[in-house]
Amino acid sequence: ASRITTRTVVEMKHRAEKISMLTAYDYTMAKIVDQAGIEIILVGDSASNVMAGHETTLPITLDQMIYHTLCVVRGAERSLVVADLPFMSYQVTDTGALKSAGRMMKEAGAHAVKLEGGAYIASTIKKIVDAGIPVMGHLGLTPQSIYKFGTYKVRATEEEEARQLLDDARKLEEAGCFAVVLEKIPYKLAEQVTAELSVPTIGIGAGNACDGQVLVTHDMLGLNKDFSPRFLRRYADLHTVMTDAFHKYKSDVKKGLFPDTKEQYE
Ligand code: KIV
Ligand code: NA
Repeated sequence: ASRITTRTVVEMKHRAEKISMLTAYDYTMAKIVDQAGIEIILVGDSASNVMAGHETTLPITLDQMIYHTLCVVRGAERSLVVADLPFMSYQVTDTGALKSAGRMMKEAGAHAVKLEGGAYIASTIKKIVDAGIPVMGHLGLTPQSIYKFGTYKVRATEEEEARQLLDDARKLEEAGCFAVVLEKIPYKLAEQVTAELSVPTIGIGAGNACDGQVLVTHDMLGLNKDFSPRFLRRYADLHTVMTDAFHKYKSDVKKGLFPDTKEQYE
């Protein structure tokens, strides 16, 4: 099957075909996600939490995101690889944003970049798109703004923030975004945004009307026991699978049952 492109996913919206997206931060995981036929692999700055163990997405650097992305690109034969631009790699100046996006394409081989924010970042996004780099937007509970929000609660439940979000979504489409992530907003607002835009919406905690869905792979695989928001469906319990394997291995080592005679050399 041929490579998924930004155009493919826009066409999927118009065919009313749902879009699946999952995160990956390394070659091995990317290869599994790719071969499962997931259309978009997001190298999320959630790597800051999932890979590095930081409490927020703020500390991860552009160099670290480039490393994760080039690992993922090597594992992805068919999926569209979208890489997050990390906190403060695109907000200071348009020149800085273009340089960051350019490095993500040239050094990491990403197929597109994702930036958080609405109207205030739209002119920056337009410049990146004009330079030939596809951009995915991200609205709602944007984790790089967690210290501004002060809470991980659902966003845009009030009229004014909802109106602002709808306007932000329109501005992102005008700026040339090929898709927009909607994170943790009321499902009716996500439905409205999805109907307004001609480019796809990809939801996480944004209900079933979105054109696609995204989850953090480590969360949906049940690797993390400490994170259980309502929107997270666990498709596996890998925490238990792995813990059982580690216990069995330890026990075999302690009892002298590993390795056996077939697992050694003459
Ligand atoms: O970093 C990430 O994993 C994301 C998704 C949750 C949309 O931005
Ligand atoms: Na992110």
